[in-house]
Amino acid sequence: MTTRYEGRTPPGRVSGRAGAPIPATEAGPLARLTVQDKVLLLTGADAWRTQGAEALGLRPMITSDGPAGVRGVVLDERYPSSSLPCPSALGATWDAELVEELAAALGAEARAKGVDVLLAPTINLMRTPLGGRGFECFSEDPVLTARLGVAFVRGVQSAGVAATVKHFVGNDSETERWTYDARISERVLRELYLAPFEACVREAGVALVMAAYNKVNGIPMTEHARLLRDVLKDEWGFDGVVTSDWHAARSTAATALAALDLAMPGPDGPWGGQLAQAVTDGAVTGEVLDDKVVRLLRLAARVNAVCLPRGDDPPRPPRAPAARASLRPAVAPGSAGAAPPRPDSSRDPGPSAHPSPPAQPEPPHEPGPSAHPSPPAQPEPSPDHDSSLHPGPPLHPEPSLDPDPSPPAQPEPSFVDPSLLRRAVSSSMVLLRNEGGVLPVDPGSVGRVAVIGPNAVRPAIHGGGSAVVMPVTASTPADALAEALAGQAEVTVSEGCQTWVVVPEPAAGSLRDPGSGQPGLRVEFRDADGELLAAEHRTSAALAWWDQVPPGFGWGKPGTVVLLTSFRPEVSGPHVFGAAGVGRLALTVDDSVVADAETVVPDDPVEAMARPGEVRATVALEAGREARVRLEFRPAADGEGPLAVRFGIVPAAADDDLLAEAERAAGLADAAIVVVGSAPMTESEGFDRTTLALPGRQDELVRRVAAANRRTVVVINAGMPVLMPWAEQVAAVIYAWLPGQAMGAALADVLLGRAEPCGRLPVTLPAAEADCPVLHAIPEHGVIDYREGLLIGYRGYDASLRRPHFPFGHGLGYTSWAYESVRAGAADPAAGDDLEVTVTVRNTGSRPGREVVQAYLAGPPSDPDAPPRQLAAFAAVTAAPGAQAEVTLRLPARAFARWDEQAAGWAWPPGPFTVHVGRSSRDLRLSLQIRPDTPGGP
Ligand code: BGC
Repeated sequence: MTTRYEGRTPPGRVSGRAGAPIPATEAGPLARLTVQDKVLLLTGADAWRTQGAEALGLRPMITSDGPAGVRGVVLDERYPSSSLPCPSALGATWDAELVEELAAALGAEARAKGVDVLLAPTINLMRTPLGGRGFECFSEDPVLTARLGVAFVRGVQSAGVAATVKHFVGNDSETERWTYDARISERVLRELYLAPFEACVREAGVALVMAAYNKVNGIPMTEHARLLRDVLKDEWGFDGVVTSDWHAARSTAATALAALDLAMPGPDGPWGGQLAQAVTDGAVTGEVLDDKVVRLLRLAARVNAVCLPRGDDPPRPPRAPAARASLRPAVAPGSAGAAPPRPDSSRDPGPSAHPSPPAQPEPPHEPGPSAHPSPPAQPEPSPDHDSSLHPGPPLHPEPSLDPDPSPPAQPEPSFVDPSLLRRAVSSSMVLLRNEGGVLPVDPGSVGRVAVIGPNAVRPAIHGGGSAVVMPVTASTPADALAEALAGQAEVTVSEGCQTWVVVPEPAAGSLRDPGSGQPGLRVEFRDADGELLAAEHRTSAALAWWDQVPPGFGWGKPGTVVLLTSFRPEVSGPHVFGAAGVGRLALTVDDSVVADAETVVPDDPVEAMARPGEVRATVALEAGREARVRLEFRPAADGEGPLAVRFGIVPAAADDDLLAEAERAAGLADAAIVVVGSAPMTESEGFDRTTLALPGRQDELVRRVAAANRRTVVVINAGMPVLMPWAEQVAAVIYAWLPGQAMGAALADVLLGRAEPCGRLPVTLPAAEADCPVLHAIPEHGVIDYREGLLIGYRGYDASLRRPHFPFGHGLGYTSWAYESVRAGAADPAAGDDLEVTVTVRNTGSRPGREVVQAYLAGPPSDPDAPPRQLAAFAAVTAAPGAQAEVTLRLPARAFARWDEQAAGWAWPPGPFTVHVGRSSRDLRLSLQIRPDTPGGP
C-alpha cells in the first residue's frame, strides 16, 4: 500500500504527469473527420451505446451499470447477471485483494455480455447515514474507499473492460441531486472527497471519470473547469474520458470548455450540432474538440473497439482468455493513424459514422404457429478482436417480441463463480455482538430453530436504481437455513411483520401465461386502437425498458403495455393486488376492474423504475382457484427515465397476528434467527431515507422474540446504518448489508460456523440519530453546506466525544486477539516518505481467524482543524489458535500531509504524530510517536 506520488508534489505547485501526447497529424485519425463527424462521436448513440465511426474503424462502445453486478443494456430476467454484495458490503471486507478478485470476475462477465465500459465503482463517501445511495459507496472514510476503489478498478480493467469512477464530486446525497450546490472548502475536497478519485487516477489508471449532476461551489460539475481540467486532467494527469452522468450535461460551450469529453446518453443532448456551431463561432476551439475525440479513441483502443489496418496495430498483450485479457495501456491515437480497411460489408455491416438508430425489437407480428423468434445474438467470447473492421462483440441480446412462449436462447454464461460470491458475502458480514459465544450455532445443540422476520422470507439483496440487476439466482435466508439444517434440526419460518412498500411480486410458479400455459405472464404491446403489435412471454412481473420497446411506446406515446396472467392462490382470503408504474394503470381481476388510476410523475427520473406510484385493490380469492389478471399501462405524457411497470399480489395479513405467531415460534425453539432490515427498494438511488429506524414494527418484533428466546440472533439486512435500540437485549447481532444473490448460503455458512464473519464496519453505527455528525443532507435554498469540514463519520464522533453504538472498524469475528507490540520502520521518517509500521498480534481464541489491523494517525497538535484521528493504513492477518502473527502496514506520505489553502498545495506540518494501532477507531491497543524530520515538507 504505497502512494509514491505523495512526496513528489512540492506544496503549491501543480504536478501530475502529462497525459499521453495527442497527435493531430494529417495522417492521424482526426484529419479524416469533419467537425460534424467529431461532434457526433461525443454524444451517445442511445441509452447505453457510444457512436461508431466507419472512417476510423471504430465500433460503438457499450456502457453498463453498475457497482453490484453488470446489468447489460436490458433489465430482463431472461438475461440475468451475477448479483454481487453491494459496495458497502465490499467496504466491510477491508480486503483489497478480495475486491480485486471479485471485480476481475465482474469484468469478465461484462466482457461476455459485450460490455466495454462498466459504470462503476462509486467512490463518493458516506457523508450521511440517510444518503439513499450510501449502499453504493464503500465507506465513510477516504482511505478505505481509495484502497478498495483502486482494487476494484484494477480488477475490472484486468478483464479488458474500462471502469468508471463516479460521481465526480460532491454527489453525496440524493435529495435535489440534479441541482444542489455542495459548498465544500478546498481542504475538505482534497483531503476527503477528491482523495479516492486521485488514487484511482494515479494508481489504477482508471479509464473514465463520471461528472456528477450537482454543483460544487456554484458550478455544475459537468462545467467545472477547475476540477475537471485543472485538477483531474492537468494536475493528476488523467488521460481518459470524462463522461457526464446520464443527462447531466446541460450546456454546450461551458461543458465543452470545462473538459467534459462525452455527453451521455444520446442521441439528443446539448452538444451535436450546437457544439459544431460553437466551434464555428470560435466559442470552442478545434483543439478542445480534438482533445475529446482523441480521448474517446484512446478509450476505444483500450477496450479493443477500434480496429486498425492490418500490420498497423499497437502492440498487443499475448492472446488471453476473455476473462483475463487485460485492459491495454493507452495508445497514442495518432498511432492508430493510417486509413482503416473498408469493412467487408458482405460479412457484417460495420459501424457507421452516422447515428445508428437505437436498437429496436424484432418486427412485431401477431401470434401464429410459425412465428418462431430467431435466437438472440451470442456474445463474442473474446475481447481480442481480429484486426479487420467489425462491430465488436454482439450487444447484449434484446428481447424478441414474439408470442412464441419458448424461452429465448441464453447467451454463453460467464457468471461470477458462485463460491467466490459466497466467500465475499461471508467475508463482508460483521459480527457486532456475540454474548456467551452463542455463535456459531452448533447444529447438534438445537433441535428446533425459529427463522423469523420479513427479510428472512423477502430479503433486500440489492439497492434500487442503477445498481439493480436481475440475479442469476437468489436463495432466501429461510430456505438456505432450512436446507443447511436439514436432517439436523427442525426449522420453522415466520414473517413476523410486514415492511414491503410495493406489493411483493408473486412467485413465478403461482402465475400462468394464459397464451402459452407456461409459468409467468404474457406481455403485449398494443397501439392506440388496441391492435396487437407485439407480445412476449415473461416470468418476472417487474419489467423495465430503456431502448427496447417498439416505436409508438414510451413517455407521451399512445401505445399501451398489457400484462396478462392467471394467479393461483395458495390460501383462501383477501389478497392485496398492486400495480406500479408512472402513468395510467388499469387492473382487472376476473373481468372486474378493481383499480384504475393515474400515478404522479416523480421528481427524479430513476424513481420511475425504483419507486413508481402504485395502485392497489384487495380481492377475496379461493385457494387453488385461478384468478385472471389483466394490467393495462399507458406511460405518462411527461414521464422521464426508463419505462417500468410491475404488479404484485400478496395475501392480506395483519401485523398483530404475524407478531404473535413469531413470538410463539420463538418460544418453542432452541434458538431464534431474526432477519430484519430494509424492505426491497427502500434504499435506492433517486431519494434519501427519512429515518434510521427499521421500517414497520421490526423493533417490536425483535424485542418480543428476544423476550421469548434467550438465544436470539439478529441479522441486519441493510446497506447503511439502522438504529438497533434492542441490541443489548439479544444474544448476537450480525450486519449482513445488501449481500446480493449469495445471501442465504453465506448467512448459513456464517451462522453454522463454516465461515468466519470477518467483516469490519466501514461506517459508524449510531446509537441515536441526534448523535450523527451529519444526519441528512437536505439542501437549504438549493445549497448543501459541508460545514462539518473534515469531521464526517468517526472523525465527527471522536471530535464531539459522542459514543457510537458500534464504532467504525468494529467487528468481532469468531476468535479473540491480543496486540503485543508495534514498531516503526523509522521514528523520524523524511517528510514526504511513506512509513512502515510492524504490528505483532496473537490469536488468543480457540478458532483460526482473520484480524484487520488498523492504524490511525493523530496530530499534529498545530492543526486545530484536523480530526482527532484518521485511518492511515490497514492490513489483515490470519493466525491459528494461540499463534502469533506479524503484519506490516504502510502509512502513505499523504497521511502526514495537509492541504494548505494559502499555498494551494500539500504541506507536511511538523509533528509530532501519534500512530494508534488497534481493532477499531475506538479500540486502540498500541501507539507510538512519529516526528517527520523535515518540518514544513520536502
Ligand atoms: C446515475 C449513474 C448511472 C447512470 C446510468 C444515473 O442516474 O447517477 O450512477 O451510472 O444513471 O444508469
